[in-house]
Amino acid sequence: MHRYFLVAAVLATVSWLVAGETNFATYKLSLRWPPAHCDAPSFECKPHVLNTFTIHGLWPQFADGKVVPPYDPDTNRCTDVIPVTDLDPLFRRITPLIEELRKYWPNYKDYQNETLNVNFWKHVWKLHGMCSDYPDNPFSYFRTAVSLGIKYIDPFKGTRITPRLVPYIAKDISDAIKERLGVYPQIACNEVGGTVQLTEVRLCFKRDRENSPSILQDCPIRYAYKCSDGTDEISFVPHLIG
Ligand SMILES: *[C@@H]1O[C@H](CO)[C@@H](O)[C@H](O)[C@H]1NC(C)=O
Repeated sequence: MHRYFLVAAVLATVSWLVAGETNFATYKLSLRWPPAHCDAPSFECKPHVLNTFTIHGLWPQFADGKVVPPYDPDTNRCTDVIPVTDLDPLFRRITPLIEELRKYWPNYKDYQNETLNVNFWKHVWKLHGMCSDYPDNPFSYFRTAVSLGIKYIDPFKGTRITPRLVPYIAKDISDAIKERLGVYPQIACNEVGGTVQLTEVRLCFKRDRENSPSILQDCPIRYAYKCSDGTDEISFVPHLIG
């Protein structure tokens, strides 16, 4: 009995030590298409629906494409430094980025509401920042994410993919990114009134322990949520006023 517990305790310790600092391989930059979130029945986006992609987040993920779960001092000590957990000073530290965050990384429901924006950024920090390569440096995490976001904010720039009423075949959307950037993205969808809609385009980057991530790679999992295959029909819904 005692021996069993000892072994279990040693294994638990080893697994979080291994989890600490080592085992994620890539970052996923998630770009969101607000019109596809705001057209659900009885869902209202204020003061109007944004007509540009916005940043959702930069997520550490394992080589198999699973997102690293949030930091938890008991069950998921993903870092060997002490992460910033006090969220109010956190937001003083990212003040120099605030204009860019408001512009490229707002909450999509009410993008001028600063309370909602700050809550969104805190949420992203708790979910993904604390297990990134910058657990003790929110400024670096947000700066890294926002610079990648700005660079790729219009993922279909220069491609034939534009919002339209006629659905696309999922593979065409994915191939357009592959042609433009040389890598396959992950496409995420929702479903509204029986229509599968593109909600997010996600780009994957190699983790680099010395430098901030910048090298694109294929995303290990190509589709998420309501789309699952290259043959799916997906609407890239146009922006409607309201
Ligand atoms: C911002 O959103 C919060 C939370 O929903 C709400 O309580 C507050 O009234 C909103 N502020 C403005 C100025 O609309």
